[in-house]
Amino acid sequence: MGESVKLPMRQGFGATDRIDAWWKGPTAMAIYLGIMIAYSTWRGFMEADFWIFADFGLSGGQGGHAGTMAIENQGSHVLSPLFSPLIIPGGEGLGGPVPGFLWWMSPAMFILIFPAGFRGTCYYYRKAYYRVYMQQPTACAVSKPALAPWKSYKGETKLLVIQNLHRYFMYAALAYLPILSYDVLLSTHFEGGSWGFSIGTLVLALNVILLSGYTLGCHAFRHLVGGGTNDWTSSWVARFKYKLWSMSSFLNVHHKDWALFSLFWVMFADFYIYACTMDWWTDIVLWGGL
Ligand code: FES
Repeated sequence: MGESVKLPMRQGFGATDRIDAWWKGPTAMAIYLGIMIAYSTWRGFMEADFWIFADFGLSGGQGGHAGTMAIENQGSHVLSPLFSPLIIPGGEGLGGPVPGFLWWMSPAMFILIFPAGFRGTCYYYRKAYYRVYMQQPTACAVSKPALAPWKSYKGETKLLVIQNLHRYFMYAALAYLPILSYDVLLSTHFEGGSWGFSIGTLVLALNVILLSGYTLGCHAFRHLVGGGTNDWTSSWVARFKYKLWSMSSFLNVHHKDWALFSLFWVMFADFYIYACTMDWWTDIVLWGGL
């Protein structure tokens, strides 16, 4: 074993010999993640305003919005991705089996555990929040806060072993893709049996595309489909695995971008639906419909 060598470095929080604006990226990331976490927490406690639904009269022309989405009463809706699949504790469908002592939970709380766990243990987000919130490290060649209790880095040990759950959260995240795709389909089904699509449909569809790019480019997914394989050609299964691995590798190159854009768009899709139910915005039908 070689001996570790300590390079000379300035001491004191933020002290460095670097002359570039190293603090800009981490500061922007701290603000961005802070806003996303605050927004999702606020919405996570809400019990309503998560779908556009004609039975509530909000999308069928209330406030003089002629031509707005008049959807539902046959199982269709424009549902916020933060609340999908919809679990209303004690209600019909998936909410029925929820035991009474959990009825205080909002629908979002039941499902956000998995996307939050997936993102929280993602390699990219780990790098981001270790730096901006834990100052571990503050940045390359920049001194950490002197009083930080975690001053010396010990790797992902002890409590941080929980990060190894990422692969299992990934399995759950994969299941969300068909569920959210089904929501896109439901948003095209209008009252009276007609079909069409609104801006809400496009918002949900883009959400599925961005989440697919993020999830299928996950390091754990790439390992799942291509790890431990030496044979890419001998059978159709091997060739299929190679195609999946190539696709995942392609997406993985820009995993950071998929991570940041998909997070923003999930929140925006939710806000869009919230704004429509509040009657601030109108979910305009672009084609078909009533
Ligand atoms: S590494 Fe980022 S989602 Fe898996």
